Amino acid sequence: MALIAVTTERRAGETRVAAVPETVKKLIAAGFAVTVEAGAGLAASYPDADYAAAGAVIAKTAKEAIAKADILFKVRAPEAAEIAALKSGAIVAAVLNPYQDKDALNGLAKAGATAFAMEFVPRITRAQVMDVLSSQANLAGYRAVIEGAEAYGRAMPMMMTAAGTIAAAKVFIMGVGVAGLQAIATARRLGAVVTATDVRPATKEQVESLGAKFLAVEDEEFKNAQTAGGYAKEMSAEYQAKQAELVSSHIAKQDMVITTALIPGRPAPKLVNAAQVASMKPGSVIVDLAIEQGGNVEGAKLGETAVTANGVKILGAPNLPGRIATDASALYARNLLAFAGLFLNKEGAFAPDLDDEILKAALVTQGGAVVHPNLKG
Ligand code: NAI
Repeated sequence: MALIAVTTERRAGETRVAAVPETVKKLIAAGFAVTVEAGAGLAASYPDADYAAAGAVIAKTAKEAIAKADILFKVRAPEAAEIAALKSGAIVAAVLNPYQDKDALNGLAKAGATAFAMEFVPRITRAQVMDVLSSQANLAGYRAVIEGAEAYGRAMPMMMTAAGTIAAAKVFIMGVGVAGLQAIATARRLGAVVTATDVRPATKEQVESLGAKFLAVEDEEFKNAQTAGGYAKEMSAEYQAKQAELVSSHIAKQDMVITTALIPGRPAPKLVNAAQVASMKPGSVIVDLAIEQGGNVEGAKLGETAVTANGVKILGAPNLPGRIATDASALYARNLLAFAGLFLNKEGAFAPDLDDEILKAALVTQGGAVVHPNLKG
């Protein structure tokens, strides 16, 4: 019987956990054994007793949990001490951030781990249930609006009171992928007047179906901005200049701007410059969800709320899913539960088929080496 270990996340600010009692129960029902490090779920409000009741063995330390494990489930890449505790050939599944975090990637390779980067799971129908980017981005989009509303010194909905009327907040969402769509829906639920922009034409209809208004430079380049994989291309300097001009007058009228724009494998595009920030009213709020990839907003600082000379707050909080850790963990854990199903053969025995399209796409280290074509060399 294959043993899965789940340990505490020790990276700064990481509150999530890679398994929750519900998924532990299901993993055990599927034929796995599960060991959870004591306290692993505490920051996400999952006590040890609930894991034990679900059938997990509670280990005192990470080392003890990992030592006999065939599989290690993590949210972030394991730390050096955890990698050192792995059995040779053990499977690791986590959001490994392999383009940036070379130490972890090379450490896993050296340890002989069979490591899977969950962010490389392809976005094919069969893998939707394992799509950690979507499950976490959706919550990040929701949380961005909540954080923005908290920092905003006014109300979001229109209110008509005996003491006078409060105008609805104007919210502009830049980048309408999974996070942006949820940000639109959340801002709308709070009663804001919402507009949104993206470079992919397919987003126009999605924005409108959520009751928001779409704003974009709809030229020839825009019509071809979506890759076959459904992602955005890096736009030309000319397009970006036209885009900046179009949104400038719009941004000046907004109370809140939420930016989520990303281009796979590239730094985040700069969408809001200092002059645009300066054009906003005092008390306006900008939430830069792309901050960990370099940010979309000039002046945004990772891990800080920057306040400009004219009183605009720019929120640069990393890891917004970690601020909604109970739900983010539950969804992430379900993604991993589904992924673990790929380690079993038709008879339910532990026999990962590395030729499986999903495992193949996510495999980054194996047999002592980095094996993913995009990461070699
Ligand atoms: P992402 O996180 O890579 O990027 C966020 C958004 O930023 C994207 O909508 C992108 O077009 C936009 N963007 C990039 N450059 C921009 C610029 N200069 N100005 C304005 N916006 C800019 O995107 P995410 O959320 O990963 O979604 C990417 C695509 O994948 C979408 O089409 C989504 O529907 C699709 N998808 C498919 C899934 C599936 O089939 N299983 C699951 C999840 C998403």
